[in-house]
Amino acid sequence: MIFPNLSRDIERNLADYNALPGWKRKLLAGTLNSIHAVALIRFQFWCRKHRIPTIIPAKLLFWFFRIEISSEARIGPGLRLPHPTGIIIAPGSVVGKNCDLYADTRLVLAHGNRQGPVLGNGVFMGDGAKAVGAVTIGDDAVIGVSAVVTKEIPPNVRAAGIPARVLATP
Ligand SMILES: CC(C)(COP(=O)(O)OP(=O)(O)OC[C@H]1O[C@@H](n2cnc3c(N)ncnc32)[C@H](O)[C@@H]1OP(=O)(O)O)[C@@H](O)C(=O)NCCC(=O)NCCS
Repeated sequence: MIFPNLSRDIERNLADYNALPGWKRKLLAGTLNSIHAVALIRFQFWCRKHRIPTIIPAKLLFWFFRIEISSEARIGPGLRLPHPTGIIIAPGSVVGKNCDLYADTRLVLAHGNRQGPVLGNGVFMGDGAKAVGAVTIGDDAVIGVSAVVTKEIPPNVRAAGIPARVLATP
C-alpha cells in the first residue's frame, strides 16, 4: 500500500458492511465519502513525507469536503469520518488509532500555543465536537454532540457540554 495506514482506514470504514458480499464491499470502498476523504488525507501526508507540495490534496479536501488538516498533525491508522465535512485539525494535534471524527469536529490551537489537542486511541468525537489547546482526551472516550473540550478528559468516559464535563456513568 502506497499510503501508510490507508488499508486499516478502509477496513474500519467498511466494518459496518462486513456481512455484504465481497463485490458490494469493493463497490462501497470506491464510493463511500468517508473513504474518499480519508484517502485524500493520507495522500496529503504522503506528499508531505516525500517533500512534494501538498496543495493538490489539501485543495481537493477543502473544495469537496470543507476539511482542513495540518500536515503537521499526526493521525493514526483506522480513521473514520462518517460524515466528512467541516473537519479542522490544527498543527501539533494528534489523533490516535481507530478514532471516529463526525462532521464539524474541530481540533484547534489555543492562542499562543503550538500544541494542539491529543486524542488517544478509539476516541469518538460526536457531531460538532471541539477540543481547544493542548488538552488530552483519553482512550475510548466519547465526546458528545457540540461539546467543547477545554480540560483533560480521562479514558473510557462520556463527556458533553461547554466546557465538556464527564457524565455520570449510568
Ligand atoms: C454525550 C453522549 C455520548 C451521552 O450519551 P449517554 O451516555 O447515553 O447520555 P444520556 O443521553 O443519558 O444523557 C445524560 C445527560 O447528559 C446530557 N447530554 C447528553 N448529550 C449531551 C450533549 N451533547 N450536550 C449536552 N448535554 C448532553 C443529557 O441531557 C443528560 O442530562 P441530565 O442528566 O441532566 O438529564 C450522547 O448524548 C452524544 O452526544 N453522542 C454523540 C452522538 C453523535 O455525535 N452521533 C453522530 C452520529 S450522526
